Amino acid sequence: MSFRVQPTPPARPNRCQLFGPGSNTKLFPKMAASAADVINLDLEDSVAPNDKAQARRNIIQASHEIDWGNKYLSVRINGLDTPYWYRDVVELLEEGSERIDQIMIPKVGCAADVYAVDALVTAIETAKGRTKKISLEVIIESAAGLAHVEEIAASSPRLQAMSLGAADFAASMGMQTTGIGGTQENYYMLRNGEKHWSDPWHWAQAAIVAACRTHGILPVDGPFGDFSDDDGFRAQALRSATLGMVGKWAIHPKQISLANEVFTPSDEAVTEAREILAAMEEAKARGEGATVYKGRLVDIASIKQAEVIVRQAEMIKD
Ligand code: COA
Ligand code: MG
Repeated sequence: MSFRVQPTPPARPNRCQLFGPGSNTKLFPKMAASAADVINLDLEDSVAPNDKAQARRNIIQASHEIDWGNKYLSVRINGLDTPYWYRDVVELLEEGSERIDQIMIPKVGCAADVYAVDALVTAIETAKGRTKKISLEVIIESAAGLAHVEEIAASSPRLQAMSLGAADFAASMGMQTTGIGGTQENYYMLRNGEKHWSDPWHWAQAAIVAACRTHGILPVDGPFGDFSDDDGFRAQALRSATLGMVGKWAIHPKQISLANEVFTPSDEAVTEAREILAAMEEAKARGEGATVYKGRLVDIASIKQAEVIVRQAEMIKD
């Protein structure tokens, strides 16, 4: 173990982040009433340029008037390469209510992008005497974002979460696909003339998880575009969960229960994790560092693996 202890990420459920355009106010009450842990009101790519100003007004009003319950309320601002982002931050934090928890920064390419937003947020919070400290989340969705993923994860104490944005990432990388996440027809291995599909998002996800875990940030899988494909969503989400991600976006309400199901540890998984912890307690009492559970080796590393599942289950239950 490194001398530096791995920091723990924020202890809040982040199984599903539900998105909705800031220009579509009729969705807001439905989003508030949904079963998503996080709500992302969007000012970026789901809002047309002519609607940006009105979308800001809508979100500011909704932050005052809608009961968002215990949901984590996040607003996606426009990218730092646009003329919109500074007004997004200024108007949201000068006029939006303290109910806003988080700002999401899209297309982050280096740590200085986060620094710039942090500086502006800090100045406004101080000037306006805001008492709640806004947190930040970022989307890794460019070649530069992935190349600098570790410095981005370390960029600000405000940073809580990091998502992979598959569509913009694919475009930036020059990947030959128009799909948003999931299986890609041309990404396969051949064995005995049979195709076996691989996962082109795997390395980006693993790099994000490693950077996040190093710095105590929540790693999240982004959108799955084909909302009529439940099995495809579930398969993508299961792979993300297996790699260590804690949740996934929903771009349509039917994806919420799928994400919640995958990112909530099953009763069987929790029972097994508790049994492994109990077996290791007994082994410890016998002065042993390893033992056998259901015919397989469990040792001190298994305690940490089991604790991940038990911690996750307990946090969700609260
Ligand atoms: N949040 C909450 N409710 C939503 C919703 C969302 N994101 N998207 C759709 N709904 C509601 C609809 O209003 C409708 O409600 P009703 O039964 O009361 O009429 C119901 O869910 C079924 O919607 P459906 O008709 O299947 O979809 P749609 O054509 O209204 O909308 C989209 C489809 C994709 C345009 C819409 O889901 C959407 O805007 N998604 C978010 C896009 C986004 O934010 N992208 C940025 C991040 S990638
Ligand atoms: Mg994007």
